Amino acid sequence: MIIQEYVDIKDYSTLRVGGQFRYFIVIDSLENLNSLYAIAQSELRFKNIPIFVLGGGSNIVFSDGILNFIVLKIEIKGFEIIYESDKYIDIKIGAGENWDEIVEKTIQMNLSGFESLSAIPGTVGAGPVQNIGAYGSEVKDTLVEVEVYDIKNNTISTISNEDCKFGYRDSIFKNEAKGKYVITFVTYRLKKELKNIDILPVFKYPGVMKYFEEKNIQNPTLQEVRTAIINIRKDKLPNPKEIPNVGSFFKNPIVSNEIVNKIKIEFPNSNFFYIDENHTKVPAGWLIENAGLKGKYFGNISVYDKNALILVNNGNATKEDILNAKSEIIKMVNEKFEIVLEQEPEMI
Ligand code: EPU
Repeated sequence: MIIQEYVDIKDYSTLRVGGQFRYFIVIDSLENLNSLYAIAQSELRFKNIPIFVLGGGSNIVFSDGILNFIVLKIEIKGFEIIYESDKYIDIKIGAGENWDEIVEKTIQMNLSGFESLSAIPGTVGAGPVQNIGAYGSEVKDTLVEVEVYDIKNNTISTISNEDCKFGYRDSIFKNEAKGKYVITFVTYRLKKELKNIDILPVFKYPGVMKYFEEKNIQNPTLQEVRTAIINIRKDKLPNPKEIPNVGSFFKNPIVSNEIVNKIKIEFPNSNFFYIDENHTKVPAGWLIENAGLKGKYFGNISVYDKNALILVNNGNATKEDILNAKSEIIKMVNEKFEIVLEQEPEMI
């Protein structure tokens, strides 16, 4: 186990923003965590320095300057079938596995559950933290339990799906358990045979339906669903290797129908998502676009011209640039629609 010092954050952030990590350690086994515990107990220089767990760095905005953390880059691998019935399979997967490679692998095994979550950047361990989701599926729908290492007590335990307290891009790991654990493994239950593939929530999405219509695909296979999602996402979500970004920058707000009715006066053709008789989910991307901000530059940051929900770094942006763009967007959307947007990625 090597302890690196002053490591450039940009290399570990898909937004390519940030200064340096004070300490940086690659963790690829549970033994590494034990060694780290022993070192942290005995070496004075690590006293009172908080641990920060890093996955793929695809949903975090880091600060500039030196971040006084012991950063753990989790590279624990593993893909083990731990239970199998005629209907489903439980697979325990290492937190350091690349999420999309696992999605691909499960589809090749003809297992259903991850197909709609194709082409999401990041690692398996980061999935439960923000309950990643797309096209009507979230990891909470297939997750059985999460194995965690308790940093303070040097112990391993498991947290059940229910105890993870999943919500929309939310879980216990973002709230009361923040900073307490390193996620080491995640167990998922995937279906072996999906008799009726068109019951998948992905088929409620007009963009997806249109794709199958255009391609003249009537009964898509899991692989065809995956290919559809990859192609649809390709246009909307720029590849961070080419255009630095952290995916959706804002959450989709749930607002009162009173506000929606006001929007409908100016935009009678707008079509939002029903939540209940008093509330509607309005896409943040739609609000930003219709506040006239699509493609707009705020210094080195711009609103992506193909999807207003994404902020992109056009080179050398700092966290201050991000904060400035964020507050300008929130202000202008609020002025136009009386809706206050909330940021989606984490800030460190
Ligand atoms: N829209 C616009 N203008 C834009 C962008 C979007 O009018 O510039 C409209 C679209 O036309 C569409 C609606 O907004 O009617 C919703 O767009 P889309 O279906 O693409 O989804 P989204 O709300 O932009 C959410 C998730 C994505 C996830 C997709 C697909 C959030 C914050 N984002 O995006 O997740 O992939 O649905 O299900 O919930 C992420 O979390 O990083 C992420 C990419």
